[in-house]
Amino acid sequence: MSQQPIYLRKQGEIAEIVLNRPDKLNALNSEVWQGISQLAIEAAEDWEVKVVILRGATEEAFAAGADISEFETVHASPESAREYDRLIRAAYDAVGSLNKPTIAMVRGVCFGGGCALSLCCDMRYVDTTARFCIPPARLGIAYSLVETKRLSDLVGPSRAKEMLMGARVIEAHEAVEIGLATRLFQPEGLDEATHAFARQLCDLSQFTIRAVKSIVEEILDGAAEETETSQRLRVEAFDGPDYLEGRSAFLEKRPPKFTFR
Ligand code: COA
Repeated sequence: MSQQPIYLRKQGEIAEIVLNRPDKLNALNSEVWQGISQLAIEAAEDWEVKVVILRGATEEAFAAGADISEFETVHASPESAREYDRLIRAAYDAVGSLNKPTIAMVRGVCFGGGCALSLCCDMRYVDTTARFCIPPARLGIAYSLVETKRLSDLVGPSRAKEMLMGARVIEAHEAVEIGLATRLFQPEGLDEATHAFARQLCDLSQFTIRAVKSIVEEILDGAAEETETSQRLRVEAFDGPDYLEGRSAFLEKRPPKFTFR
């Protein structure tokens, strides 16, 4: 196993960004925040990669949030605090804006910044050991608007307030029930199920998948009518290789071989 606190593992068209500080429950320190940005950009730019999975290296944790032991240093001055904020923002943005499907594979602890990071992903596949919590109220921290919106968009404003104000721990079953997690598996089945779905995504039209991602993002930003982008995507689809292949494959009763990247 790699000794790096974060690394990228490629398996053909699927890339895994692995958080690897097991003795600290993958608490996210500056090096890891920076690594998240770098590796998300690397995966975005890698032509071969179609799906990105974020995960912890071991079974105990996805991530226990920002590394609290760094707080004294990173918040030593307003400038260093702003710099630290920028580092974290860049990591969330790099994952959130990745133009490929992203799946957070969550086992064990998924707290604070770890939870926020999982919410930057398109889906959260979890096992029964997963525990979510966002505890700013325990630390006296003001939680950022962007991350509050992501949470609120998923679980609704009332549950978001309950989680943030009460620092409640949400167990895996409840997480699925309230829409915080996407799908629940037994611990021994999580890895295979996540990769099986990732492989399924790899075989489908990447044009359609990217269009879905971009259109849902526009909806979350407030769009309720067709936008310039959604209209353009609908027109471009009919001129693109995937539509031609999808239609031909259906008529010829064979599986499609999509080529759009
Ligand atoms: N920052 C730094 N170190 C952390 C950490 C964090 N966010 N979360 C856990 N760790 C470290 C612990 O200090 C401990 O290290 P040590 O063995 O050198 O003392 C190790 O990880 C294991 O954590 P421990 O608390 O012993 O595990 P636990 O199973 O008893 O409890 C948690 C798990 C997640 C409930 C608990 O670690 C916790 O509350 N962590 C902080 C979560 C948090 O507030 N995150 C938001 C930060 S903004």
